[in-house]
Order: sequence, then structure tokens, then C-alpha cells
Amino acid sequence: MPFLRNGNLADFIKNNPSLTKKEIAELFKCILNGIIDMHAYNILHNDLKLDNILLSNGLTPVIGDLGLSRKLINQKSYLKDVGGAILYSSPESMFGKAVKESDYFSAGMILLAMCCSDDGDIMMKCKYG
Ligand SMILES: Nc1ncnc2c1ncn2[C@@H]1O[C@H](COP(=O)(O)OP(=O)(O)O)[C@@H](O)[C@H]1O
Ligand SMILES: [Mg+2]
Repeated sequence: MPFLRNGNLADFIKNNPSLTKKEIAELFKCILNGIIDMHAYNILHNDLKLDNILLSNGLTPVIGDLGLSRKLINQKSYLKDVGGAILYSSPESMFGKAVKESDYFSAGMILLAMCCSDDGDIMMKCKYG
């Protein structure tokens, strides 16, 4: 992956706390498309959070850090290690179950963070998960 000058989404929304709902919707749509693309290859990211979404020069979100990602073999896959940020972890992933829905759970937390970026408490939790 090339170096992306706009860094990660956590720092970006901290520096730009007044994103409009339209901008948030556009960012979120790109993140969802990235998840759909990964899942089409049966890859579960398993660690989606603000820090792991990078931004290209044109502020297009790019999903990074596939360190905890898993190839899904079948519907009954289990994670060898339960990892990732707890705040972003679905109940299924906390029990070690590898399902695509878990990435959407994490995406929901990313959306929450983007919508509540003016709330220091929520942002602190979302930054460190
Ligand atoms: N290609 C990249 N371009 C710009 N910044 C990056 C890039 N890759 C990683 N980073 C920065 O480094 C941070 C940590 O990278 P990451 O791949 O998430 O590793 P880890 O979380 O395992 O330490 C990211 O949140 C981001 O700020
Ligand atoms: Mg990371």
C-alpha cells in the first residue's frame, strides 16, 4: 500500500470534528463498499476501527491493517485468536466465531464515532477501542 498523507480516520475526524452528515455518509458508503469487496473474496477483516481506516489524497477511505484478517472457509469458521478492539467487536467475534456480520458491527461503531466526533468521551473510547 502507498503512503497515504491524510493518515487515519481517527486523526482526521479529530482535526475535522464538524464533518457534515453528507460527508459522513459519503465516507461510510466507501467503507461499506470496501467491506463488501473484501467479503467477496471471503476475507473477514476482523479489526475495523477508526485507526485502521486510512484516507487517500482525495479523502477516499482505504481499509488498512489486515493483521487480524481471516480467510473464511465456511460458515462455521472460528477465530484462532480473539483479538481486536473490544468496543468494535461484535458478540460473535468475542466468542471466537468468524462471521462477516462482525465487520458490519465494527463499521457501525465507526459510523457512531463519525456522527459523535464532537463528543470527547465517545471519541476517546473509539480511539482506543
Ligand atoms: N500506508 C499508510 N499510509 C499512511 N499512514 C499509514 C499507512 N499504514 C499505516 N499508517 C499509519 O500507521 C498506523 C498504524 O498502522 P497499522 O497498519 O494499523 O498497524 P498496527 O495497528 O498493527 O500498528 C495507522 O493508524 C496509520 O496512522
Ligand atoms: Mg492498526
